[in-house]
Amino acid sequence: MNLEQELGRLREYLRIKPLYWDQDRGEFVWLDTRLIPFEEVYRRTRDYSRVAKAIRDMEIRGAPAIGVAAAFGMALAALYNNAGDEEELIAHLEKARRELASTRPTAFNLFWALDRVMARVESERSRGFDKIVDGVLDEALRIYIEDIKNNIMIGRHGSKLIEENDTILTHCNTGALATAGFGTALGVIRYAWYEGKNIRVITTETRPVLQGARLNVWELKKEGIPFKLIVDSAVGIVFRQNLANKAIVGADRIILTGHVANKIGTYVVALSAWHNNKPFYVAAPTSTIQPVNDPSAIVIEERSHDEIRKIMGKYPLTLDGVDAYNPAFDVTPPELISGIITERGVAEKPFKETLTAIINHR
Ligand code: MRU
Repeated sequence: MNLEQELGRLREYLRIKPLYWDQDRGEFVWLDTRLIPFEEVYRRTRDYSRVAKAIRDMEIRGAPAIGVAAAFGMALAALYNNAGDEEELIAHLEKARRELASTRPTAFNLFWALDRVMARVESERSRGFDKIVDGVLDEALRIYIEDIKNNIMIGRHGSKLIEENDTILTHCNTGALATAGFGTALGVIRYAWYEGKNIRVITTETRPVLQGARLNVWELKKEGIPFKLIVDSAVGIVFRQNLANKAIVGADRIILTGHVANKIGTYVVALSAWHNNKPFYVAAPTSTIQPVNDPSAIVIEERSHDEIRKIMGKYPLTLDGVDAYNPAFDVTPPELISGIITERGVAEKPFKETLTAIINHR
């Protein structure tokens, strides 16, 4: 694929480059989101295990970005290894797949991207060593470009739900920093803003990792979109006082019933929106949709208690060693969701029918 030409066409949408493939040096490059908004530091590697660490430690986070990074991790595993023949190469790729898959359990895009790369490996298998290597890199680049294009389509469909003078509440970061570029829920907001709509945003701070306070603030400021920052527990009063008239969030995993796993606190945002008669939308690419009907298939990641006990792992907020519970995600049931915005259009209730139809067009 001609990466330069594809990116050239999308340039106007790519004001923030959160991750990319450096073709000259054969390296994967990413912005370390742990340091945002104070420092903008790009990191680079030829080592797939370093990519796995970047995902696990949340230098790269957000479901679509995790999927794209894992695909590039596989490209690194294909390009740099000691395999002597196809069998050894495939064994090495399967090992890389396992390591990358073990990084974060909830984001469905991670498993979707790894499966897609391995399916490409399978289809190139009979064509020999070099074709397998080229195929893995080509598939990773396709996943990367598709994610950006899908985000722009999500923005285009979602922007139809945004009206002049809306104030949109959002939770967690779903912008360029959570994807290959542009964003999902924040991409809808960004698209409406580019269309010239007069809108405002209210972002939660998103405890405990502060994706709202750090990443949304950084992205919204860069775009010049007016916004206010609130603590997560202010969501109820914000809807009650009509300070926001709709909510849009992203998703880590959606199943066909319309159950949506997203950043911890999303369920409370949805409940508050519902109780105050405000529409609550979810925006995500179809790569986030797991084609199953059983909510118990959704794995909820539990993270270190220190994320709660200390701010950004540094500044203590409570007593050392205090017992805690730190689920990184929750599940919002379909009855609280007004619509699910995908790159193929907006799915409405009954989600089982509309999401199945959307998936079957994949
Ligand atoms: O723990 P994170 O920061 O990876 O969680 C991210 C979210 O919950 C996002 O809302 C979701 O991945 C969608 S990103 C477009």
